[in-house]
Order: sequence, then structure tokens, then C-alpha cells
Amino acid sequence: MARIATAAGVILCWACVATSVAAGRGSAARQTQSVWDGVYTQAQAQRGEPLYEAACAECHGSDLTGIEVAPGLAGGEFVWNWNGLTVGDLFERVRISMPQADPNSISRQEKADILAYMLQVSGFPAGETEMASRTNQLRGVSFLAVEP
Ligand code: HEC
Repeated sequence: MARIATAAGVILCWACVATSVAAGRGSAARQTQSVWDGVYTQAQAQRGEPLYEAACAECHGSDLTGIEVAPGLAGGEFVWNWNGLTVGDLFERVRISMPQADPNSISRQEKADILAYMLQVSGFPAGETEMASRTNQLRGVSFLAVEP
């Protein structure tokens, strides 16, 4: 009886290992997507441009290079600031705190569109799928300054 229980334990344990390996692989696959994989569409960035102009350009500049205390939102320093974080982190930053005077004045969807435009200006490629406006999904997209 003891021996059977042990055997069952071993089988259970093996199932555990197999499950956790599969789960690990799943999350690794999600983590390997980056801003270089086409994580927004051309059309979405086009929608984002006038939204950016209306809600962000006054402080961050029409060319996204920043004005006074408001930092640039594309290229150079900006891209290295966010290197190694995720698009979800960046989305949360904008969702919670921008536009500075009234973060609730524009919707999540509009913020995702603006983010798509920002990525485009930084030179990250467009793709076939629109950028989601859910932070959890965007946490699976690494922000990498240099193409891996
Ligand atoms: C009234 C001025 C103002 C407006 C409008 C504004 N911002 Fe900002 N933003 C700032 C300032 C100032 C900072 C830096 C200080 C801070 O973090 O609050 C900042 C910081 C940021 C950062 C962090 C940058 C970094 O690398 O750390 C992001 C991203 C950002 N803004 C995005 C946006 C977006 C997107 C919009 C439009 C939806 C927007 N901001 C509108 C003033 C503004």
C-alpha cells in the first residue's frame, strides 16, 4: 500500500513538473515579444498623432523632443530611459499621470493610440495587430532600445 502511494506521489510530482515547465514556457513566449515585433498598426499611429497634438504636444513638443521640464517622448534619451522595462509600464505611466493637468481627460484607447504614435516616431516598426489598451497584455511586450 505504502509502495502504491509512493508511486502515485511520484506520478503526481511528475505531472507537477510537466505543468510548471509548460507554464514557464508559456510566459517565456509572452515575454519574448518586444517593441521590435510590430506591436501597433500604421492606422493606429495615424489616429494617435492628432490626439498627441491635442493632449501632449503643448508640453512635450510637436516633434516629441520635450520642452523645458517635460522630457522628450521619442528616440535617444527617452528610449534608453525605458530600456528593459515593458510597454505596460510605459502605458501605466501615461494612464495614471498624463496629461499632467488632467489624466482622466482622455480614454485608455486614446492613450494606446498615442503610445502607438510615440513608438512610430521612435522608429519601432508597425505590424498587423493594434496595441491593446490593457496593461496586463502590454506587460508582455519588452521595451528594448536596440533590436535584439
Ligand atoms: C501640462 C504639461 C504636460 C502635458 C499636457 C503632458 N505631459 Fe507628460 N510630462 C510632463 C512633465 C512635466 C513630465 C516630467 C515630470 C513628471 O514626471 O511629472 C512628464 C512626463 C511624462 C512621461 C515620462 C517620461 C519619462 O521618460 O520618464 C511620459 C511617458 C509622458 N509625460 C507622456 C505624456 C503623454 C502621452 C501626454 C499626452 C497624453 C502627456 N505626457 C501630456 C508634462 C506634461
